Amino acid sequence: MAVIENSKVTIVGAGSVGSSTAYAALIRGSARHVALYDIATEKVEAEVLDLAHGTQFTGSSDIIGGSDLSVVEGSHVVVITAGAKQNPGQTRIELAGVNAGIMKKMMPQLLEAAPEAIFVIVTNPCDVLTVLAQEATGLPPERIFASGTVLDTSRLRWKLAERAGVSTGSVHAYIVGEHGDTEFPLWSRATIGTVPILDWVTPAGDRMSAAELDQIAVDVRDAAYKVIQGKGATNYAIGLSSARIIEAILHDEHAVMPVSAVLRDFHGVDRVALSVPSVVSATGAHPVRETQFASHELDLFHRSAEALREVADSLRS
Ligand code: LAC
Repeated sequence: MAVIENSKVTIVGAGSVGSSTAYAALIRGSARHVALYDIATEKVEAEVLDLAHGTQFTGSSDIIGGSDLSVVEGSHVVVITAGAKQNPGQTRIELAGVNAGIMKKMMPQLLEAAPEAIFVIVTNPCDVLTVLAQEATGLPPERIFASGTVLDTSRLRWKLAERAGVSTGSVHAYIVGEHGDTEFPLWSRATIGTVPILDWVTPAGDRMSAAELDQIAVDVRDAAYKVIQGKGATNYAIGLSSARIIEAILHDEHAVMPVSAVLRDFHGVDRVALSVPSVVSATGAHPVRETQFASHELDLFHRSAEALREVADSLRS
């Protein structure tokens, strides 16, 4: 499929994550048309105005928005950020009940307004909401997926790049599993350039130890708690991550990214949405089935799947 002409993304939710996603998408030129939709009229109109006032300094993208569902019409991609956010100390999973209710109400309306769109779920807990929304809409799993651990992977690469003395783009490492407390890095496949991570000699002249890598994984897993404690929310990095996903779809990039689609018989996981390296293109997200796990990583992956399955089951019953 060719690059989509006249591309349109709608971001649902004009809170800090939604507005930051729109801002990042405008600056990066992720779509020709960026729309922001929220039921809170005054808030969304103010955010749209503020963004529009800066378009002299962005590329060729424009911004529209409001509280009328017609804003969503004609979208190629719909990014959902609406819902309750984590308070300091709260886990993403604790938001499941309230945000599942919001999604249940919103999804049919969004699907009716943009029946051909690809849906990207950012609202937390994004993996659980994805599986519920996929089942409720009956959309093919590639067309409705979560931003998952794209952000966590960026956090990981930033830390490793700093320590290794290379650019983030030269770090090939992924966080997989839940976007949350059971996530983990696929260390067995992590390299800097082509060099296995434990073999890389840093600018300080040493190598990273397994214990240091474990600590980095913990810091990455807990990164959002730290940011939320300090400023009440995370918004910039998730906004950039979402914009990056939007452009992989709209530019039909076939980029490999750890997004979270409902898996089917993937290394023993079925009907659970979890992040794994996936090819993201104009047709959506396609998990890379050839991804290899060391046996202890497979155990962690299954543990992550079971944790999420339990939460989804509790919301279905
Ligand atoms: C974070 C939120 C978006 O990880 O879940 O920053």
